[in-house]
Amino acid sequence: MSFDTIRWTGDRLVLLDQTLLPTQEVYREYTHYPDVARAIVDLVVRGAPAIGVTAAFGIALAARELAAEGRTDLPERLEEVYRVFRATRPTAVNLFWAVERMRRRAEALSVSGRPDPEVARALAAEAEAIFREDVEANRRLGAFGAALLPDPAMVLTHCNAGALATAGYGTALGVVRAAAEAGKRVAVIADETRPVLQGARLTAWELQRDGIPVTLIADNMAGARLRRGGVDAVIVGADRIARNGDTANKIGTYPLAVLAREHRVPFYVAAPLSTVDFALASGEEIPIEERSEREVTHWGGTRVAPEGVAVWNPAFDVTPAALVAAIVTEAGVARPPYAETLERLRRQAPAP
Ligand code: MRU
Repeated sequence: MSFDTIRWTGDRLVLLDQTLLPTQEVYREYTHYPDVARAIVDLVVRGAPAIGVTAAFGIALAARELAAEGRTDLPERLEEVYRVFRATRPTAVNLFWAVERMRRRAEALSVSGRPDPEVARALAAEAEAIFREDVEANRRLGAFGAALLPDPAMVLTHCNAGALATAGYGTALGVVRAAAEAGKRVAVIADETRPVLQGARLTAWELQRDGIPVTLIADNMAGARLRRGGVDAVIVGADRIARNGDTANKIGTYPLAVLAREHRVPFYVAAPLSTVDFALASGEEIPIEERSEREVTHWGGTRVAPEGVAVWNPAFDVTPAALVAAIVTEAGVARPPYAETLERLRRQAPAP
């Protein structure tokens, strides 16, 4: 990879500032956990797995800072840190999954009476493990997904579910990368993804960097493009998948799934099992983040809507499982009925 979305140096976290792409490639350094939480809120780092990995490193930084104070109540004081990270963004379940995994690790270490500096070092190692496992999961799911694609293949995607949205390699774009690595001729159509333009700014940039052919379209062109023919699959990532397969992903994913059904193009979701929330029976229960109206009323800092207009700005929508042809995970490909197949894959998956 010619860029790092997230880099850990042992005592600081480095994030590629995604708010500045594609025009500037700026890496920001973090040593203080509230700044890491703010980076998640402000979309310096975004994408469900990337948010989870970043929160894990943020907790590791906090543990380091707190342990250096020489007190003996690290596990209790970390509770506030978990709360801060859980409050950053509500939809991506990977965030809550990663915070919980760090919390369990800290608790196990403190029960066994380890001194605070040792707990802090172990938490940094845990965050590194979460990072590594995310890349490995993406490579595995990428290979499963690549096998679903013909050669040559034209893939339509939405938002950015690439290396920029994960610790590396990507989920939906991981499938594309794996297909290219397997020698398939694969090209991508990227939806621009209003209102924050993750498709135009990030997916187009990332694929260009990798030399994978990419054509950018505005969101309202997807129907015309699918009707024209020659699109072999729509592949998207996910922020949270309920156990019945209902999938929350970037706003605009649901209409794309409806269009794919109408044009008989398979609609695939590519996501690690850490994105499946087995506690939720259906997508109705997935909390949907609403973001600032400014994202809709302004374009590149310029107002494009009248002052005072009412705005609705949900960041995600839910695609019903009935529109999803398959969910591609690191443990294999789930097909309907997802309540059974996702559960089976969870049991097969190697424990972290
Ligand atoms: O608001 P964002 O940019 O964090 O939303 C990202 C998405 O919706 C992605 O498609 C999803 O997180 C999957 S990333 C592998």
